[in-house]
Amino acid sequence: MKGAIFFASKYGSTAEYANWIAESTGLPVFNIKNKKADPSEYDFLVLGAPIIYYKLLNRKWIRTNWPIIEDIPIILFTVSGAPAGDKLDAWIANSKLPENMLSNMIHVALRGRQIPKELTWFDRIMLLIAAMKNPDPVASKEEREGFDYMDKSSIEPIIAMVKKMQ
Ligand SMILES: Cc1cc2nc3c(=O)[nH]c(=O)nc-3n(C[C@H](O)[C@H](O)[C@H](O)COP(=O)(O)O)c2cc1C
Repeated sequence: MKGAIFFASKYGSTAEYANWIAESTGLPVFNIKNKKADPSEYDFLVLGAPIIYYKLLNRKWIRTNWPIIEDIPIILFTVSGAPAGDKLDAWIANSKLPENMLSNMIHVALRGRQIPKELTWFDRIMLLIAAMKNPDPVASKEEREGFDYMDKSSIEPIIAMVKKMQ
């Protein structure tokens, strides 16, 4: 079976995970900004995107491409500050993905990186405001001071699934 990785990334951590998955599996890897790559050419897809402002960054790409990919098995990996759990599930639901996608895809939650000095001023200020309002002290500190949870070994479940599909 022929597969491919299509990712979105704002600050590079999702791109890094996508490239690690490509290195370990030999799958081709495309940024969704590359309009020449056609996801309908593949037998299965690995889609990767960060959560930015409580939504998946690739939600519009998924909705636009849904008519041509709805019959293709999908592994979705998300990259976020928050770990797997209710908050993350709510943000995925908030991204308004096609309903039959949510029930058929496999989801793997990975944790990313946020370096305050690399952010745009707009993002930095928005995250400082979010930190002031956030009742969770750990998440609030992460929004203020950043974090680095990048972990190459966390892609292992994805590699195992891809190898089975290949
Ligand atoms: C502007 C901004 C908004 C974010 N919003 C969220 C969020 O709502 N929930 C969350 O868990 N993480 C959030 N994060 C953390 C990102 O998901 C994390 O930094 C991720 O690694 C970014 O991926 P990228 O480097 O591929 O862009 C946010 C980060 C930024 C910069």
